[in-house]
Amino acid sequence: MLMGREKTETRKHPMLPIRDVVIFPYMMTPFVVGRESSVRALEEALAGDKRIFLATQHDASVDDPKPNEIFQVGTIANIVQSLKLPDGNVKVLVEGLERGKIVSLNDEEGYFRAIVRPINQKAEPSSQLDAVVARVNSLFEQYVKLSQSLNYETMIAAVKVDEPGKLADTIAANLQIGIEEKQELLECFDPVERLNRVADILDIEMEKLNVDRNIQGRVKRQMERAQREYYLNEKMKAIQKELGRGEKAELDELKKKIEAAGMTKDAEEKAMQELKRLEMMPPMSAESTVSRNYLEWLLAVPWKKKTRESRDMARAEQILEEDHYGLEKIKERILEFLAVRRLVRDPKGPILCFVGPPGVGKTSLGMSIARATGRKFVRLSLGGVRDEAEIRGHRRTYIGALPGQIIQMMKKAGTKNPVFMLDEVEKMSMDFRGDPSAALLEVLDPEQNFMFQDHYLDVEYDLSQVFFICTANVLHTVPPALLDRMEVLRLTGYTQDEKVEIAKRFLIKKQQQANGLTDKHLRFADEALVALIQFYTREAGVRNLEREIANICRKVARRVVKEGQGLQLVVTPENLSELLGVIKFRDTLAEKNNEVGLAIGLAWTEVGGQILSTEATLMDGKGRLTLTGKLGDVMQESAQAAMSYIRSRSEQLNLSRDFYRRLDIHLHVPEGAIPKDGPSAGITIATAISSALTKIPVRRDVAMTGEITLRGKVLPIGGMKEKLLAAHRTGIHTIILPKDNEKDLAEIPANISRDLKLYFVETMDEVLRIALERPIETISARAPATPIAAEFAREDVSSQEPLTH
Ligand SMILES: Nc1ncnc2c1ncn2[C@@H]1O[C@H](COP(=O)(O)OP(=O)(O)OP(=O)(O)O)[C@@H](O)[C@H]1O
Ligand SMILES: [Mg+2]
Repeated sequence: MLMGREKTETRKHPMLPIRDVVIFPYMMTPFVVGRESSVRALEEALAGDKRIFLATQHDASVDDPKPNEIFQVGTIANIVQSLKLPDGNVKVLVEGLERGKIVSLNDEEGYFRAIVRPINQKAEPSSQLDAVVARVNSLFEQYVKLSQSLNYETMIAAVKVDEPGKLADTIAANLQIGIEEKQELLECFDPVERLNRVADILDIEMEKLNVDRNIQGRVKRQMERAQREYYLNEKMKAIQKELGRGEKAELDELKKKIEAAGMTKDAEEKAMQELKRLEMMPPMSAESTVSRNYLEWLLAVPWKKKTRESRDMARAEQILEEDHYGLEKIKERILEFLAVRRLVRDPKGPILCFVGPPGVGKTSLGMSIARATGRKFVRLSLGGVRDEAEIRGHRRTYIGALPGQIIQMMKKAGTKNPVFMLDEVEKMSMDFRGDPSAALLEVLDPEQNFMFQDHYLDVEYDLSQVFFICTANVLHTVPPALLDRMEVLRLTGYTQDEKVEIAKRFLIKKQQQANGLTDKHLRFADEALVALIQFYTREAGVRNLEREIANICRKVARRVVKEGQGLQLVVTPENLSELLGVIKFRDTLAEKNNEVGLAIGLAWTEVGGQILSTEATLMDGKGRLTLTGKLGDVMQESAQAAMSYIRSRSEQLNLSRDFYRRLDIHLHVPEGAIPKDGPSAGITIATAISSALTKIPVRRDVAMTGEITLRGKVLPIGGMKEKLLAAHRTGIHTIILPKDNEKDLAEIPANISRDLKLYFVETMDEVLRIALERPIETISARAPATPIAAEFAREDVSSQEPLTH
């Protein structure tokens, strides 16, 4: 009975909502009471037993809190002192007595009266309790030591208490933590648990204090270092002054250099200005380094230095001949170009652009031109350049800014009239940082490039005497505006015979020299070179051929070192695999069986002419056309056109009118990761799909190329020579080509065209007649629906005569 009463014992007290503070038992706290309702609650308490209930309000900014905006657990306190201030506020000092939980709250009198249940849980003595008390004591001692705002002596004295609950409350009251956390501690009635929580909080707070201390230490150290540097700098200046040289002398020297550099008027003014600025700056400051760098760049680019241009055309011709085999047309064109440049004083002609697959000699022709004209040679690869700033530089205000590549290369050239080769113009791309091709356009435009603006240099620079040459592997990705300025010279790739000649005359010598060998040590039989070209390389140019020759030279060099200078080796087809390992390429394509849905196309990719198998398969579906194998947009369009053609010819192909509604067609052009694009795959795609639909195999020994129109006309294509060379390399001898390309036959070396059986066609119908293994059998019972179909049915396949040369 007594127990029950004790449990439910309640008391009635006036209540004061307090803000921004949580009052704990055993704690003396002064505060000022201002709200009228609070003053009245206070007055009532003072009139009675001086007990008041203090509870914290959720939100300190609320002036008139509702009962549900006040925490339910607070502290019953004794008012120790109260003092009415002149402004009507009352200053009070309270002493916390015990926890209390609100049972009910009313504000009928205009202030709060609370019925409160006191809470006074005590801890049972246990070893666990002793342990946590010890832990808290030691943590708190460390905490006070670290903390700058708590007085060590008073704090340590304050916590010398034997009652665990009281210990926890005393520490909680003194922690610098948030109101929420404090309230949680107040609401934690079990003293042991409360102690544990206090210990955890102390741990965390101590961590924070430690971090703070470290940061402060670091800041202090940094300040010390800066001061030290300043002191040393000043000292150094004093020493330099003492020695009579130093800055002044250096600046004078810079001035002399600027005057001697032959800059443009603008540039010289700018440089002098910068020099003045530099004089004012502390010599070791970051700013002066930036300024100095700028002046150095201004001095480093060639302003007046030129190489004397050789005007001897005969010598130029001789040099071009010396460096390159074949390429007759190109060399001729280059010589014409040089001649014109010679005659016109201020040539504003187009820019030369060499286009062709890798390793056909574009770069090396550029070097030859430099040699022939007595100019320096520099080369800039534009592959992957995406940012205008790479061409034009960054403004000096950027940290670490530098001039763009054009100016950097001019510095490298050291003369203002070098041959400047811009490699891979087609691989330049564009993104949000501005369009580099626009900047390049300005570089190449003779109307503008005498006043080229680099962001870093910040003065106009004259590029008009530079001999620019561009190179590209393919043209279709070169920005059209750029292409407009260029005179395109195509290097198509070499035939096998040409490659053998190039190897004999240039590559072998070059590699022998590079590896310290002579003809005495190593010779190549002609047949070995042919085998090398056929079985170890598959390329339009000679780069891999050169690489394989280098490979052999290195191996032989090693043997010479080991076996002595007496070694003599002749490379023959027989010992080739000993030197280079197993054969890398074997032309087996033409030997395989004819297959349904597999047609062989001839493409012109970045690596030169290539044969590309094109596969089509059918699946049940609803008319989707899927393309895979890295195909470009134009190729996708070709596929659509091919589909339209086939649908318009459904009758002749013996297909129901709506055959495509129930089918999905998947078109795949394998051959690795080479991006493929261009319209010339049109007839190959149409052939592959037609074959898949009619189930008639395509001849494996036929390759084809040509653009297709919706009506099935075959349009001309580019790169015929490269394509024919590729087919020839691979051993395919029957080739279907657009009629309009017949004129290009003149370009094809006779020894190649002799081997080939060429069909020049005008329509897709002709293509199918040649490429499919057997004619399409239209169902004889059904009369041809259209005149074209009738013609198709009548015409005899054998009337198609191959054109042979
Ligand atoms: N007609 C040729 N006569 C002699 N050597 C040649 C000929 N064509 C190419 N070469 C040699 O082949 C090698 C590769 O040529 P180069 O580097 O000029 O190729 P490229 O066309 O610039 O290729 P890429 O497009 O990869 O830059 C060089 O060593 C070059 O001298
Ligand atoms: Mg090159």
